[in-house]
Amino acid sequence: MTPALELVGLSAGYGEVPIVRDFSTRLPPGSITTLIGGNGAGKSTLLRAIYGTNRWFAGQVVYEGQDIHTVDPTERLRRGIAFVPQGRCNFPSMTVAENLKLGCYVLPAKLHRERTDRVVSLFPMLREKWSVAAGNLSGGEQQVLETAMVLVTAPKLLLLDEPSLGLSPKMQGEVFAAVQDIAATGVTVLIVEQNVHGALLISHTAIVMELGRKFMEGPAAAVREDPRIREAYLGGNIKESAGA
Ligand SMILES: Nc1ncnc2c1ncn2[C@@H]1O[C@H](COP(=O)(O)OP(=O)(O)OP(=O)(O)O)[C@@H](O)[C@H]1O
Ligand SMILES: [Mg+2]
Repeated sequence: MTPALELVGLSAGYGEVPIVRDFSTRLPPGSITTLIGGNGAGKSTLLRAIYGTNRWFAGQVVYEGQDIHTVDPTERLRRGIAFVPQGRCNFPSMTVAENLKLGCYVLPAKLHRERTDRVVSLFPMLREKWSVAAGNLSGGEQQVLETAMVLVTAPKLLLLDEPSLGLSPKMQGEVFAAVQDIAATGVTVLIVEQNVHGALLISHTAIVMELGRKFMEGPAAAVREDPRIREAYLGGNIKESAGA
């Protein structure tokens, strides 16, 4: 099967130094892949490189059969790659409704209503806070709004950087369930998560990064059982109740 995304020897970073080095992988369509790694391992840098917002050094980003490393991020978004960065909402003084409208800007006007309704049904919190300024939402709610703002574009490849950070266990569960729903419609998801356990439970594949390089890749269930991963990222034991 043609992968939804293939990275071939990708090196990327900032300024004069690559952070991510010689990174290769293939993501099958409709798959969920979790990217694991310690702070500073280069996870966010890898997502930015796929979206095109940092510096490319070498290698290929093959999407829909084409190396897109020279394509700008707005065009990548138009082609179906969506990136939800780590952190808080970009437009704090605008309401939830206005932020969602902004998320629709690359879409034809006739799709706005239908797409917005769809994300609101995934995250009912958005309806409750419809007229609230985004800056007055909790950190977790802002993260959900940011995710919703890219979901309205109906991406084919979704890059999520720590979507459950700061969320209550209940809302983390909602986010993981939404990711599963989205992937079930054929969307390919690459997700960085601090809730490694919850993310592994919904993922097909896991990739472990260390110092900018791929350290391990395999079925999520196998990576979850690996003693080194349990020790480093799962607190040495596995709790069945966390997250999803
Ligand atoms: N805009 C930037 N300019 C220069 N260096 C950066 C920039 N962003 C990140 N870095 C550096 O790149 C390295 C990898 O950072 P990155 O944010 O990709 O790590 P991460 O795996 O996402 O970590 P975390 O789990 O803490 O989010 C770090 O050494 C960081 O200091
Ligand atoms: Mg990061």
